Amino acid sequence: MSTRDPIHPLETLNPKVRARFPMIDRDSRGEPRVYLNTGAGSLTVDTAAEAARDAQGRLNPMPGAVVAGEAETAALQARVRDLVADFLHARSGREISFHQSATAALFNLAFGLRGILGPSANLVVTDIDHMANVSPWETVWGEGHGREVRRARLTAEGALDVDHLLSLVDARTGLLAMTSASNGTGSIVPLRETVAAVRQKSPACLVALDAVHHAPHGVLDVQASDADFLVFSGYKVFGPMLGVFWGKAGLLEKLHPYRVETNKDVLPGKFEMGMLNNASLASLEAALEYLLWLADLAAGPTAVFSDRASKFRFVMASIAEYESGLTRHVLEGFRRLDARHFRCFGISDPARSGERVPTFAFDIGGLTATETKQRLWADAGIQIADGNHYSAAVVRHLGRPEGICRASFAHYDNYMTVELFLGALGRLAA
Ligand SMILES: Cc1ncc(COP(=O)(O)O)c(C=O)c1O
Repeated sequence: MSTRDPIHPLETLNPKVRARFPMIDRDSRGEPRVYLNTGAGSLTVDTAAEAARDAQGRLNPMPGAVVAGEAETAALQARVRDLVADFLHARSGREISFHQSATAALFNLAFGLRGILGPSANLVVTDIDHMANVSPWETVWGEGHGREVRRARLTAEGALDVDHLLSLVDARTGLLAMTSASNGTGSIVPLRETVAAVRQKSPACLVALDAVHHAPHGVLDVQASDADFLVFSGYKVFGPMLGVFWGKAGLLEKLHPYRVETNKDVLPGKFEMGMLNNASLASLEAALEYLLWLADLAAGPTAVFSDRASKFRFVMASIAEYESGLTRHVLEGFRRLDARHFRCFGISDPARSGERVPTFAFDIGGLTATETKQRLWADAGIQIADGNHYSAAVVRHLGRPEGICRASFAHYDNYMTVELFLGALGRLAA
């Protein structure tokens, strides 16, 4: 028997949620499918796809103040910065900039810290991170400036070894680059405690967070985490292919990013290389507004929120709770599989489902990750990911350098999706 939580509001709302995702049960060629690959990119919400089409076809490319169409573009850009600021609980839209990808934003951040990290500063990165938050630091600061870049390791179960990380931090540590949730094993990193403990050892240490994997699954609060910089990606939060970068305004003002002479050295545009992609911005706006729509539905008609940031906090906390129930159900199901043929990597105790997001790395004995992916697709129309997921150190640590299977869920999934997945795994592992 598996335990079921009392019915969560998002479980009741699940049919309405699924109706907002046109590709939820079929692929681009119309083939039926169960999409368990949100870790590689979430499904796009209907209005985010429509907004991109509309903006691309209709909007003036350049923002400006004279012609009405220019003003409309300028207003869109300002609106989306403010909306993102509320999503992250940042102090202002001036702290938000847009990039080709989260990876591009992190490379630009690493480059932009020239003259800011002291001459004897070392850096700490982690083995749990996607390479997007490792390679920029190793390339720009390790290879480029000859600085020591230390790597915090993983615990045996595939979470970040916070004790080891703290042992690497000393008074000269100038930057910590860390994820907020692993896209390999799904472990959540205890941000607030870790950042506070790091600052005790090195008060001036800057903290750059990669929230790409965490963003669709829980509350991101840059003020509470006390980080200095954060990135996430639009295509993991039900919207466009686009990187979003936040930083504390006082620090951003001091940075020296890639910047052409004619791009003024002022926030937020100083970080943006070339024209912004208005279609992506319109799409991101619609994706985040979808979350506000969901907040209204989940909270009910009488709910009152003090501001938009608290509405985002409410809906993301609801998503985390609902997904935690799905996670527990998955982990309980894993326990019923034949342990000789099935292995789950990462936190696998159902009682600890709150310490992870619903991203599951696993192995079917005797099959490569690609073979398992092929069999799940052929047998059950289930789409998972195989490979290293750009988390190279995680797959090495798990002893699967050639790659692991990863099934990743989101709030548009439900207990039926979980049962389909467990049933298909049961047949494969039998
Ligand atoms: C944890 C994590 N960080 C960074 C990235 C890179 O994001 P982007 O494709 O926007 O550069 C990904 C992409 O999968 C990711 O999962």
